[in-house]
Amino acid sequence: MTPTFSIARQTPTTDDYARIIEAVGWRPRRPEAIEIALRNSCFSVCAVSDGTVVGFGRVIGDGGIHLYVTDIVVLPEFQRHGIGTAIVAALTRWVDEFPFPNTIVAVLPTPGLVSFYERHGYKVQPSHSPAMSRWINAKWPNTALEPTPTAP
Ligand SMILES: CC(C)(COP(=O)(O)OP(=O)(O)OC[C@H]1O[C@@H](n2cnc3c(N)ncnc32)[C@H](O)[C@@H]1OP(=O)(O)O)[C@@H](O)C(=O)NCCC(=O)NCCS
Repeated sequence: MTPTFSIARQTPTTDDYARIIEAVGWRPRRPEAIEIALRNSCFSVCAVSDGTVVGFGRVIGDGGIHLYVTDIVVLPEFQRHGIGTAIVAALTRWVDEFPFPNTIVAVLPTPGLVSFYERHGYKVQPSHSPAMSRWINAKWPNTALEPTPTAP
């Protein structure tokens, strides 16, 4: 059955964030790190079904020059019903209203999702200029997270 859902301009709670990334098998994060991250978002939306957050997405960045569409996640049992598309559309509407010229909006698609983002106007980097990344303090799949360090 197709779930009914709405997209709300809303930051997920720390518990919702942890619950939903766990459900899709993403690396666990400390609650303190999640709180900092969510607080520093430029824009967040939640997909809500029957009063429960079943997905979310965020725009992060410096608020002036660089934006990054990230953390688009939908609970597995709610996937393939258009919720992820609605989340990316809402985030993209927000970045499209950004007032400053020459703003770059980045996204790092997980495997298989290039066309999912292409539909919203995001373009693959040319092969001579691929995106690059680096994990810091990688703990996964050894998921025991140690005591919280002092944030820099
Ligand atoms: C990616 C994700 C958010 C998509 O959410 P969703 O609600 O299932 O997306 P939609 O139902 O709007 O999908 C629309 C279309 O995108 C494509 N698509 C969606 N998920 C896909 C996947 N995992 N692999 C390949 N194509 C996918 C399909 O073409 C789909 O259309 P279809 O169902 O008619 O085939 C969801 O699969 C998810 O949470 N994945 C785990 C977390 C993740 O990897 N997030 C992306 C971070 S960059």
